[in-house]
Amino acid sequence: MKLLVLLVFVTAIHAKHEKYSGWKSFYVKPVNNDQLLKLTSRIPEFHLDFISKAAVNREGIVLVEPQYQNDFLRFLAKEKICHRIHSEDLKEQFDIDDQKIEVRNLATRSINGGRLPYDNYQTLDVIYEYIDQIAEDYPEIVTLVSSSKSFQGRPLKYLKISKDKFSSNKPVIYIDAGIHAREWITIPTVTYAIHKLVENVTEPDLLDNFDWILFPVVNPDGYVFSYERDKMWRKTRSLKDWSITSFLCRGVDGNRNFDFMWNTVGADDDKCSPIYAGTEPFSESETRTVGDIIDEHIDRMVLFITVHSFGSMILYPWGHNGSLSNNAFSLHTVGIDMANAINKLSLPNFPNYVVGNSMLTIGYGASGASDDYAHFRGVPLTYTFELPGFEDEDDESNEFTQGFYLDPKYIHQVCVETWAAFVTGARRAGELYGKKNL
Ligand code: ARG
Ligand code: ZN
Repeated sequence: MKLLVLLVFVTAIHAKHEKYSGWKSFYVKPVNNDQLLKLTSRIPEFHLDFISKAAVNREGIVLVEPQYQNDFLRFLAKEKICHRIHSEDLKEQFDIDDQKIEVRNLATRSINGGRLPYDNYQTLDVIYEYIDQIAEDYPEIVTLVSSSKSFQGRPLKYLKISKDKFSSNKPVIYIDAGIHAREWITIPTVTYAIHKLVENVTEPDLLDNFDWILFPVVNPDGYVFSYERDKMWRKTRSLKDWSITSFLCRGVDGNRNFDFMWNTVGADDDKCSPIYAGTEPFSESETRTVGDIIDEHIDRMVLFITVHSFGSMILYPWGHNGSLSNNAFSLHTVGIDMANAINKLSLPNFPNYVVGNSMLTIGYGASGASDDYAHFRGVPLTYTFELPGFEDEDDESNEFTQGFYLDPKYIHQVCVETWAAFVTGARRAGELYGKKNL
């Protein structure tokens, strides 16, 4: 029976990811500024999609459609830019990734039961069911807010978790995930934080001393689209008008849509670009919802974390120009403490986290991001986490693409270690700013 289900599934997924048939991905490594500039200037011509940006002496990963591969490779050879193959055929790779999910589903379904499992990626329905259930089961401490809707009409659900319904002026901690659709691993880290604050409490001080806002799926339309149709989807799914380009190129990059230095650096006016900034700041209801939460709680919010993938990094403002804010010292030291908490629990084959200013650390500037907006509005500690995404090169049985998709066998590990960073970040924020408004 199981075999039959698997067979039906394998046939079904072969029809999936068709768009990526024949696509290849390459590691590219410019060794000087000249090579980097040449590479980035060719992005539009070769329709390059960098899923990990290259910097001088740092390897990036780029997806290339079949019709541009030869010209792209000729260009790399001519400019003597170091490169090597990352995936020979993206559709094949994605089919393999899907099979891993399904095999795990079949193997573990019977032992999971009940609450949200952390051994696999979950559909939006399952995640939303969990959020609803938690609110229903713990009405004294959990309040579900779902008053705004995504572009396609899905509720945007976040939980307020507090011992006294946010009435006693405690510092507020905000954590979100899933603003970028394809970064699947980010979502369970936030539902796991809910689990640890409410269901399986091992750090009771966190609710004694703070109020929490946890928003696991900021961009549900994008997540569903990425899960069901186009795995590499990043943006929202909005349509601004009825023109053909709007239809062909939907959505806005949520993390370029916030109202700080909007559309000045590392963002695009082109609707078809994966980093399209939108028609104006907060054009998307998804980002407006995050902006409204920040505004509503600005007097008490001491720590803001937005979870992304991938790269094993903890990043802080300013992300548009690499300059440091007045709070840089605290941002850096708390960032280091959080990274150490993760590194201590990490597996030997996971890369160590690095901490720093987001532009200098990730290697590119980007404006209109939520971390910068929250900091600009006055939240003292704001961070972007880039969770791990990597390849186990020595382990033949465990070959997977470095990127947004982390093998589901690591989901639980990443949730546990990321939770340790949230705990450390909260406690440090409490020491530094706990008295902010008392
Ligand atoms: N990967 C994230 C993005 O591209 C990094 C954002 C870092 N923050 C910033 N303000 N640039 O959206
Ligand atoms: Zn992201």
